[in-house]
Amino acid sequence: MSQINKISMVVIGDTGVGKSCLLLQFVDRRFSAVHDLTIGVDFGSRIVDIDGERVKLQIWDTAGQESFRSIARSYYRDAAGALLVYDVTRRETFDHLERWLNDARQFASQHIAITLVGNKCDLTKRRIVKREDAENFAEENGLEYIETSAKSASGVDDAFLRTTNNIWNRLLQGGLVRKTTTIGGSPGSGNNDSDGNGIKLGGNNGKGGKGCC
Ligand code: GTP
Ligand code: MG
Repeated sequence: MSQINKISMVVIGDTGVGKSCLLLQFVDRRFSAVHDLTIGVDFGSRIVDIDGERVKLQIWDTAGQESFRSIARSYYRDAAGALLVYDVTRRETFDHLERWLNDARQFASQHIAITLVGNKCDLTKRRIVKREDAENFAEENGLEYIETSAKSASGVDDAFLRTTNNIWNRLLQGGLVRKTTTIGGSPGSGNNDSDGNGIKLGGNNGKGGKGCC
């Protein structure tokens, strides 16, 4: 049986920050101008090549609306990585990061790799949150920081791939890399690999640098 490596991530953050658009751009290479409110959770996946290894990224796009938060939480537990997204044009989405982070710290694995994502950086004239403030927040909380535009696609691949690389680095450091382990999975899966595939991630496919805009 051919092996394919798998890794699971969640995308979290306030409603309207562009989580679904980031996923759409990463998976489908397109942008939707409509805010199609996510109900509960959506899913997308993409196979990427990391250092010669095929890796299937399984991405859970959670709803930002308060009423769905408990559903979103149930997806944290099995995620090896998270994109924590705010909107650079809406200060309150940045102010709420602490709450999202607390949620992740409480409900996710302690080893989860979190990347802070400042999205909508194409809207330069409407920008409110300074890059410096976001970088400080990221540093204080031990997060990577990257800026993206789901509209122009700038930084989008980088955000997902750098998170993947961080997960890999953590696995290496912890001596946790095993050929037949799925890192993360669907909620309630208990990290079981339902179709018998394994994981072996490696290399540095992220382009480095700190974002796009
Ligand atoms: P919930 O599902 O409610 O949690 O929202 P969400 O975070 O998934 O937001 P969504 O991806 O649906 O995007 C909300 C709105 O922002 C939509 O109208 C998008 O077109 C717009 N949007 C998302 N990303 C960008 C971006 O990078 N630039 C611009 N200009 N607009 C964006
Ligand atoms: Mg959505």
